[in-house]
Amino acid sequence: MKIFTSTDEWREFRDSCWPQADSLGFVATMGALHPGHLSLVRASLKNNAFTTVSVFTNPKQFDDVQEFENYPGDVQADLLCLEQVGVDAVLLPATTQIYADDYRFRVSENDFSQRLCGAHRKGHFDGVLTVVMRLLNLVRPDNAYFGEKDFQQLQLIREMVAAFFMPVNIVACPTIREADGLAMSSRNQGMDSAERETAAFLHTLLKESKSAAEAALRLGRKGFTVDYVEDIAGRRLAAARLGNTRLIDNVVI
Ligand code: PAF
Repeated sequence: MKIFTSTDEWREFRDSCWPQADSLGFVATMGALHPGHLSLVRASLKNNAFTTVSVFTNPKQFDDVQEFENYPGDVQADLLCLEQVGVDAVLLPATTQIYADDYRFRVSENDFSQRLCGAHRKGHFDGVLTVVMRLLNLVRPDNAYFGEKDFQQLQLIREMVAAFFMPVNIVACPTIREADGLAMSSRNQGMDSAERETAAFLHTLLKESKSAAEAALRLGRKGFTVDYVEDIAGRRLAAARLGNTRLIDNVVI
């Protein structure tokens, strides 16, 4: 497995190793890898000649500095995991390389990104879309894999790629869950055992409730601080907090 900390070296490698005919799959991550990430990686490995993964905790998508600083991460463990699963290349860029322009240029969407998670996390989706655009331009994959757990993010990325005529196929992968239904997430590590037990109700109550309002009410009764529960285009999407941990999930209704 090749590891690139320099974006210039990656670009040279990209140009020399991937002629047009070969397909390159890409998974963007912020590290703290779990089976959810690995399912994206496996989907890429299965359908592409080469798979590249980026590990970059993007500071621009955090509305809270503390949350960014506390974001879990263990690069050595991530690299081991990626090597074991058979990834070809890993990009570990520095913030100064991704944002050499000091974030003067950014992607901004002014409709769907302002709702749901965007209404509660100022600037979050500008940060996500900007880093995804930069990473896609840097990696130039044929296929890029994103999880359905972050459904709003996935939808916005699809729409950005279409709006900017970007030559990449966005592949959606299903949410990977723990045995009790909790969607796998790097944030799950931040919960104590009582919060972890309660967390499974997010998925259960989204599925079982007859309406978004009922789900919000029942989540509140279980001890969640609900940011939102909304039904949109056949899906029920939610974000809710348990202590310091913000959880998101969505189900087909
Ligand atoms: O879903 C994530 O982990 C991040 O939002 C992403 C897509 C890697 C961009 O930083």
